[in-house]
Amino acid sequence: DVLVKDLYTKPRDFGDESITVSGWIRTTRSSKKIAFIELNDGTYIKNIQVIAKRDGLDNYEDVTKLPISSTLKVTGKLVETPDAQQPFELHAEAIDIEGVSDPDFPLQKKAHSLEYLRTIAHLRPRTNTFYAVFKIRSLAAFAIHEYLQKNGFVYVNTPIITSSDTEGAGEMFRVTTLDDQDTPKTDDGKNDYSKDFFGEETNLTVSGQLQVEPFALAFRDVYTFGPTFRAEDSHTKRHAAEFWMIEPEMAFAELPAVLDRSEGLLKYVVQYLLDNASEDLQFLNDNVDHDLLDLLHKTVDEDFARITYTKAIELLEKADVDFKFPVKWGIDFNSEHEQYLAEKVFGKPVFVTDYPRDFKAFYMRDNEDGKTVAAVDLLVPRIGELIGGSQREEREDILEAKMKEFGLPREEYEWYLDLRKYGGTKHSGFGIGFERLLMYVTGMDNIRDVIPYPRVQGSINF
Ligand code: 4AD
Ligand code: MG
Repeated sequence: DVLVKDLYTKPRDFGDESITVSGWIRTTRSSKKIAFIELNDGTYIKNIQVIAKRDGLDNYEDVTKLPISSTLKVTGKLVETPDAQQPFELHAEAIDIEGVSDPDFPLQKKAHSLEYLRTIAHLRPRTNTFYAVFKIRSLAAFAIHEYLQKNGFVYVNTPIITSSDTEGAGEMFRVTTLDDQDTPKTDDGKNDYSKDFFGEETNLTVSGQLQVEPFALAFRDVYTFGPTFRAEDSHTKRHAAEFWMIEPEMAFAELPAVLDRSEGLLKYVVQYLLDNASEDLQFLNDNVDHDLLDLLHKTVDEDFARITYTKAIELLEKADVDFKFPVKWGIDFNSEHEQYLAEKVFGKPVFVTDYPRDFKAFYMRDNEDGKTVAAVDLLVPRIGELIGGSQREEREDILEAKMKEFGLPREEYEWYLDLRKYGGTKHSGFGIGFERLLMYVTGMDNIRDVIPYPRVQGSINF
């Protein structure tokens, strides 16, 4: 088979040769003598137009009766049509009917709502919108690996089943072979997992960070890229229960390295997509978000803004907006604050650094002021928080005291303290929510629409 992508993107000179294209019917219209069939072969967002004539096709009648989404193998001559909408068409000499679709195929020509399409997650990749989104998902993952590997980062697979709660937020899905009734209780009424599969309480990982840090102290620059799980009680368009995270971790690195590296990575991914998914991005810009390409070009062309949390609070206090959640130094930002900063004040990605230590994770490095930590979030237009990162507390005594303060049992994190005990050094890292990144680069407004099979609170299909 010749691939439609190659027809659009490579030199085409077949001379007198016939070619064969296999694909699915997107639309079809026919008269007594001639039929026009838009075929999509999966390799490109654009279709190839097939011209079928009754003259010379013994199954012309059958072909014209086919419902959309039927599968064809078409052999014919490629004819250049420089003046038409499409640069070429395929004049059929033979058409094999590989699969006859049921006429009740749900994706008829009319536009469907995204809500409806979520209920047919197994069929929605056949729409142009989801074709573009999931193509971009694949290319973005590749670009992330490529950038990190080119820059010497070693890919580490951290576990999915774990007994740690990296972020300390208690938003974990428990992993157990026991059902509630069978779970024995301890004297104080808690579940006793000592007889369970792992002999202790386990959960799905919320972040691979703690387990990737030891590899940074062996390989210097490392990253994880895998699924993470959070049982957050938030029904928003930006939270999923299962999402993927990219977590680079760097030894001999302080907070500014996190800003530089994450900005470099995002710019690389966006440029890669502009270069390798231009048709898909153009489709999304025309049909989903008219500002998408502008935002993406701005992302690669302009430096991201950089401010401290304290400065961000000042900007929010000065804002001419009635925030639902009142602003004062010490609050954790709400998405309305994040979006105001990224969208209204800067109109581009903005790093906010040095947050109050009280609502941040135990592993973040205390600043000298005693009030803030060397943490950073990247806030971006339309989404809000896209990245969270920090310099890690490398001072053993301070880390130990902090673990006590945050109520972490020392026995379970002995190994984490070892990293400070043996060859400790300043190190830093960050986590990018892959789906949030995809929302940013596709213009999609709901996280459910960038995940092939989304898992969010209150709903699971497929
Ligand atoms: O800010 P978070 O919680 O940071 C961490 O997990 C650190 N351990 C990362 C690190 O330093 N290695 O999560 C990082 C990012 C967020 O900025 C957000 O983009 C995404 O992960 N994220 C979610 N994405 C979708 N659904 C959710 N429920 C998410 N929770 C976090
Ligand atoms: Mg965060």
